[in-house]
Amino acid sequence: MNHIQKVGFTLILAVLSFSAGSIATEPGKSSGTAVDDAYAAKLWTYMLENRLIGENRVRSFPFVGSRPHGSIQEFIATEATIDGQKGRLLIKHNYGAEEKLTPKEVYAADHDEYSEPLAIMFQREDGYDPVNSNWFWAEYNPDGSVLNYQGANLSGRSPLCLGCHTPLGGKDREVLNGIAK
Ligand code: HEC
Repeated sequence: MNHIQKVGFTLILAVLSFSAGSIATEPGKSSGTAVDDAYAAKLWTYMLENRLIGENRVRSFPFVGSRPHGSIQEFIATEATIDGQKGRLLIKHNYGAEEKLTPKEVYAADHDEYSEPLAIMFQREDGYDPVNSNWFWAEYNPDGSVLNYQGANLSGRSPLCLGCHTPLGGKDREVLNGIAK
């Protein structure tokens, strides 16, 4: 390695370590940080205000789902605007306190009765996380706080969510749309 090569090499290393160091705070690269949780809170407020969750919320007919989500689920695909950015919003209500629940029972029951954590995907601006179709992921406790699973808050570019939705969902990372994977 001559001197010029050495300088070039050192520069590349510097760039690499800079990008590695900044990963934690870059949008689309972080998950479970205060910034991600704050963004998840905005989505929660949006959903409440638009009756997508909470009392008198819009219902869709439940279906039998699979774990780790509820044994019975309700799904709504809509659009939301957060900080002036419009994107698709996929909302999944999960039920399953009793494994033998049926979709009809869930539909008839008070909607909170069998609830498990709410799971959502919101498609953010181009460039947020392009490799993964720019989804922001979140899972919530009933009070709207972000669910903590094994020490990690489930908000942002969650590796846990992507771990399943990449193989099961294919390029768009969506499972239920059934588009050939
Ligand atoms: C172990 C696999 C697995 C993991 C982990 C997982 N999911 Fe899913 N997800 C599924 C499956 C399977 C479906 C289709 C519905 C069903 O049968 O449960 C789904 C469906 C969804 C949907 C409805 C839209 C779609 O893609 O079909 C949302 C929203 C969702 N998941 C959010 C999340 C979030 C948020 C996380 C992380 C906190 C997560 N998921 C983690 C397997 C997983």
